[in-house]
Amino acid sequence: MRLLVTGGAGFIGSNFVHHVLAHSDHTVTVLDKLTYAASREALTGLPVELVVGDVADAEVVDDQVARADAVVHFAAESHNDNSLTDPSPFIRTNLLGTFAILEAVRKHDVRLHHVSTDEVYGDLALDDPMRFTEDTPYAPSSPYSASKAGSDHLVRAWVRSFGVRATVSNCSNNYGPWQHIEKFIPRQITNVIDGIRPKVYGDGLNVRDWIHADDHSSAVLRILEAGRVGETYLIGADGEKNNLEVVRMVLELMGQPADAFDQVTDRAGHDRRYAIESGKLRAELGWAPQFEDFEAGLADTIAWYQAHEEWWRPHKSATEATYALKGQ
Ligand code: DAU
Repeated sequence: MRLLVTGGAGFIGSNFVHHVLAHSDHTVTVLDKLTYAASREALTGLPVELVVGDVADAEVVDDQVARADAVVHFAAESHNDNSLTDPSPFIRTNLLGTFAILEAVRKHDVRLHHVSTDEVYGDLALDDPMRFTEDTPYAPSSPYSASKAGSDHLVRAWVRSFGVRATVSNCSNNYGPWQHIEKFIPRQITNVIDGIRPKVYGDGLNVRDWIHADDHSSAVLRILEAGRVGETYLIGADGEKNNLEVVRMVLELMGQPADAFDQVTDRAGHDRRYAIESGKLRAELGWAPQFEDFEAGLADTIAWYQAHEEWWRPHKSATEATYALKGQ
């Protein structure tokens, strides 16, 4: 298939492009706006066409979709903290961008896979025995997660009303190389490299369900190739950990005392816990994660940031200055 990968120069999108080229015969065109969170370098040396453009620009999207057999739609503004400061890019990219994609795949009858997040389900209490399933009601908390929830609803409506051939996936927190240093894990790794104490929001007991980005990619490819049109699949690797556990692991792997971090101002509306039940994806499509040892994956990720300082260094001081304004 000729795949159009939106957001293919971002952290998860570029990982998917690498995965597709290594594990299939599909060809790839990337449509990416190259925002602050994207990097051309993540695609260096790959046989892909990079179209620099805005996913909310209906004309650009229509041109590209017309030439594709399938669209994998990663393009999104993704950082909760930024959505609390200025929600407008989230509304444009996540809602209007998905609308533009849907109208184009409808017009050209192109298969679509829409990539989304577990945050659409809101959060769980720490002691809740339940995990999110495909049937959990939507209850997003932040402007970011509300915009992603809205985009999921648009996709479902276009499937039902117009017969668009689409699938949806909702994944938990990704980690791995090429993740922007505003995110929790790379922020703390690069802080330690710089001799800055890691910053944990609030009491640090918030739980995230960590999955390596390569496992997310293999799941998306599997759904694209074998998923049932109109279905939603949750993607997760049973990786629940609270933020204190993660930051202590980062510190220890980097040769620092496990308690050498600061607790700072909490995020407004901070979701308490995410947890994914991915039984449908595993049973129906035979998918399984390969990176089950979180500590080993984290050690590799630390080594990657240590070896790629030239990539993240130009963004470090501005990222930290933005956090400092909020006491974080
Ligand atoms: O669950 C999937 C979601 O995971 C994706 O939809 C989002 O695009 C992605 O950003 C991520 O959302 P989170 O808000 O969970 O990720 P973040 O890396 O911002 O934060 C992870 C946890 O760490 C969260 O509980 C907030 C906390 N945190 C974050 C930062 C940046 C800290 O304690 N300190 C920090 O400096």
